[in-house]
Amino acid sequence: MITFNKPYLTGKETDYIKDAVLNLKISGDGIYTKKCHEFFEKKYGFKKVLLTTSCTDALEMAAILLDIKEGDEIIAPSYTFVSTVNAFVLRGAKIVFIDSSDENPNMDVNAIEAHITAKTKVIVPVHYAGISCDMDKIMALADKHQLFVVEDAAQAIDSFYNNKPLGSIGHLSAFSFHETKNIVSGEGGMLVINDDRFLQRAEIIREKGTNRSAFFRGEVDKYGWVDIGSSFLPSDIIAAFLYAQLENLEDIQQKRKSIWNVYFEGLKQLEVSGKLRLPFIPEYACNNAHMFYILCNSLDERTQLVQHLKKDNVHAVFHYLSLHKSPYYLSMHDKKELLRSDLYSDTLLRLPFFYELSNEQLSVIISSILSFYEKR
Ligand SMILES: Cc1ncc(COP(=O)(O)O)c(C=O)c1O
Repeated sequence: MITFNKPYLTGKETDYIKDAVLNLKISGDGIYTKKCHEFFEKKYGFKKVLLTTSCTDALEMAAILLDIKEGDEIIAPSYTFVSTVNAFVLRGAKIVFIDSSDENPNMDVNAIEAHITAKTKVIVPVHYAGISCDMDKIMALADKHQLFVVEDAAQAIDSFYNNKPLGSIGHLSAFSFHETKNIVSGEGGMLVINDDRFLQRAEIIREKGTNRSAFFRGEVDKYGWVDIGSSFLPSDIIAAFLYAQLENLEDIQQKRKSIWNVYFEGLKQLEVSGKLRLPFIPEYACNNAHMFYILCNSLDERTQLVQHLKKDNVHAVFHYLSLHKSPYYLSMHDKKELLRSDLYSDTLLRLPFFYELSNEQLSVIISSILSFYEKR
């Protein structure tokens, strides 16, 4: 079976984990955590980075930092992972779901302004498949209405908007290093803080509401409970794993981009003949090769294609189900139809994508899809 995902190991992960263990500083913010922080701050110019145990945790930190409370409204796409919005629901906020755009699953930026009310506090753009949302338009709306922007950049490492690194544009941004991402640590994530107002408090929230980080830097002579917070920081063992991946970021990205291009070239003829749609990358965005998806014409067609691929030993998977229709949120949604989000839920199919996917395997997958559409 050609699996959908296979985490790639660079070879240094266990060496660095062993080193972290022998350093005997295996709780959070050890040597490897600092190395990872420095790497991201230097490479992408992020003002401040804090590793977290997941992107979900980074989003929860963002919601606490922005003082989200009952009655606040958050604008987010319906076609996303539950954590994008759950972080804000945990603080009592109402989610105002926006439809996807026609050209790709990202939120329809032109639909945002009509949904802004006096209660709106945050816009949460999700860069689906690592492909940027139109950040100039989103930041302009945020400026005009005095809102915050939290980029859900879970899938968007090493991706850019008009040459600006994703994650560096919003007030806060959240990344994931879950094993399905380009750069992994099993579970893992990071919060990026681009706005000075949140620098100090972010450290406190991450350390259970204490000023322990300042204490470790020798800035205070004892530490105590100064705010709300939780345990959001990962062990240095996780950071050691992540650092081994970061050292190979260029190589990983190059390989993933070449796999993406093989898919694109191999399937282009099906788009040209109108049989399916391939990912659309706007001019302002770039491709970080996080994912390769195709858009079928209907749910029924996608179900048949999944079965067809399975017979050829290929595991392809669909993705999100519209959150505005989820069992948890349906009764709280304002009943507006979000038809494009539903369409992506029904028709988007993700193809196997991982560093070690061979040309032979790519050929099998592409041939299987071509043969499926030959008869259509
Ligand atoms: C858009 C989006 N946001 C958030 C998350 C949550 O990431 P994590 O598993 O690191 O908590 C995911 C997970 O895949 C995601 O796709």
